[in-house]
Amino acid sequence: SVLEMEVEQIKKGSYDHYMQKEIHEQPHSLTTTMRGRLKDGGVLLGGLKEHLKTIRRCRRVVFIGCGTSYNAALAARPFVEELTGIPVTMEVASDLLDRQGPIYREDTAVFVSQSGETADTLLALDYALENGALCVGITNTVGSTLSRKTHCGVHINAGCEIGVASTKAYTSQIVAMAMMALAVGSDQISTQTRRDAIISGLTSLPSNVSEVLKLDVEMKELASSLIDSESLLVFGRGYNYATALEGALKVKEVALMHSEGMLAGEMKHGPLALVDENLPIIVIATRDACFSKQQSVIQQLLSRRGRLIVMCSKGDASAVCPSGSCRVIEVPEIADCLQPVINIIPLQLLAYHLTVLRGFDVDQPRNLAKSVTTQ
Ligand code: G6P
Repeated sequence: SVLEMEVEQIKKGSYDHYMQKEIHEQPHSLTTTMRGRLKDGGVLLGGLKEHLKTIRRCRRVVFIGCGTSYNAALAARPFVEELTGIPVTMEVASDLLDRQGPIYREDTAVFVSQSGETADTLLALDYALENGALCVGITNTVGSTLSRKTHCGVHINAGCEIGVASTKAYTSQIVAMAMMALAVGSDQISTQTRRDAIISGLTSLPSNVSEVLKLDVEMKELASSLIDSESLLVFGRGYNYATALEGALKVKEVALMHSEGMLAGEMKHGPLALVDENLPIIVIATRDACFSKQQSVIQQLLSRRGRLIVMCSKGDASAVCPSGSCRVIEVPEIADCLQPVINIIPLQLLAYHLTVLRGFDVDQPRNLAKSVTTQ
């Protein structure tokens, strides 16, 4: 009805779509995720406090989720390992169930789910509970099945997300897990300086996100140059392996374009065969310990006449592409382990614009549902 349509438009504010609104909301949603939780140079997570000792003693952290939530956990994996020293393994919920993979009492199983109602994730939760693991929930939905059934957890407080493709929940999930890693690792004196740097990175995150959102027009231009491509590859590694997977997932789910995120370190073991002058490839090469490896990946791709779009830190355009033959996206630099929060945003914008330009439904992509509550 006309009334319903007007209500919808009011909820979208000045935006055309929920996905667009939710992308641009991120400086705010990230602020609410952190609100009241960064205190006196440390991290306070009420929903985890009583269980920190148990988590510190566990033999392994197992991250479990589906879709974008799985990718958020993958983004968290490197800094959880680094700040806690605990081995981290990754499980796609359905695959854990298919294999009936081993889960032990000494494990901490961390379930990541925006809705807290995804069937596969909830079945994996029942399975982990039966096996006696400590079960932690990371969710955006207070009162959800996930938040009720887990032993403890963190609400990400990103605000209601309506677009089927998850955007603001992804960045808030990463930040929630960063705070979790800081809290679990807070008894380690050797990593104090590193923790301080990450906390100050968290504090400056919303303003850096506002900064990177200014790439909107540039991403729209990039989208218009990719509109007829059949496929798009995204290469990342280290902290930004997850960014590659998540960027590709956004492109395939909303823009309905084939896209694959790949580990740059695996390039030589297959993907290199696809490279030619037509296939667009996004290479994530912002500053971190893997930077020089990514520089050499770019060189190898260029020597095979690859069509490259390189994401780099501000001021690094000539360092990543001395020949000037790549399209470059420059993003603000932040503490390396938080860089995935910044780097995904241009890719969210790209997927959004690609979808609009290709004439597809942004908020309700073909065949997909916001919450998959059946197996
Ligand atoms: C569906 C949605 C995705 C989401 C996934 C997991 O596939 O379309 O956007 O990432 O479910 O949802 P959850 O609510 O568990 O994070």
